[in-house]
Amino acid sequence: MKKEHVVLMLCTIVIAIPLVQSAFEGPNEVKEWFEELPVKKQKVTRLHFYLHDVFSGPTQSAYPVFTSNITSTSISNFGLGVIFDDLLTVEPDIGSMTIGRGQGLATSAAFEETRFLQVINFVFTQGKLNGSTLQVLGTNPLHNQVRELSIVGGTGFFRLARGTATLSNYTTSSSIRQYDILVLHYESKRCQNCYI
Ligand SMILES: *[C@@H]1O[C@H](CO)[C@@H](O)[C@H](O)[C@H]1NC(C)=O
Ligand SMILES: *[C@@H]1O[C@H](CO)[C@@H](O)[C@H](O)[C@H]1NC(C)=O
Ligand SMILES: *[C@@H]1O[C@H](CO)[C@@H](O)[C@H](O)[C@H]1NC(C)=O
Repeated sequence: MKKEHVVLMLCTIVIAIPLVQSAFEGPNEVKEWFEELPVKKQKVTRLHFYLHDVFSGPTQSAYPVFTSNITSTSISNFGLGVIFDDLLTVEPDIGSMTIGRGQGLATSAAFEETRFLQVINFVFTQGKLNGSTLQVLGTNPLHNQVRELSIVGGTGFFRLARGTATLSNYTTSSSIRQYDILVLHYESKRCQNCYI
């Protein structure tokens, strides 16, 4: 894919002109960043993407890893744990452009309903977000149409981020989850005029 093409597609996710730069900074750069914190402005970034929870076949990315001795008899599969390294794409089609991975662990942690303890690292791989991450933590009641998880932190472009992720099944039967993320973070020296 041509570079201009990638940039155009990314603009539909983040209203920004992404620059291809490394997100990795050493301890001195991080120290400088913290020294500048009092004069940094807060920004809100919105991200929208699809996560593919694939449990079988050649593209399997989610694997059950443990159970409790009551999982099979519990109405909520209590104690079931699933680890995943799911693709994040800009469109519902798994073959559409990938912007990163959703790597995490979901564990059935409620006796009375199917409600998962959910921990995810979103690891971004495109444009100005390449190498930056968001840390997600929350409780995910699978039967709810819309679920809300907390963004508890971030790295790189998203250093010291906080925010909210709302997710829903793309269709009722599918393993595709639609994510909408609103995240509050600080302006980046690397990308000061990224936002319109
Ligand atoms: C589950 O394991 C515990 C001990 O680790 C045991 O006391 C309990 O009876 C077991 N429950 C079932 C349903 O097998
Ligand atoms: C993302 O960064 C890695 C290493 O920092 C680099 O190898 C890769 O080419 C970059 N990807 C894009 C799409 O810029
Ligand atoms: C969403 O999908 C999961 C499994 O992929 C399912 O268990 C859950 O019931 C679905 N939720 C809704 C509201 O349809």
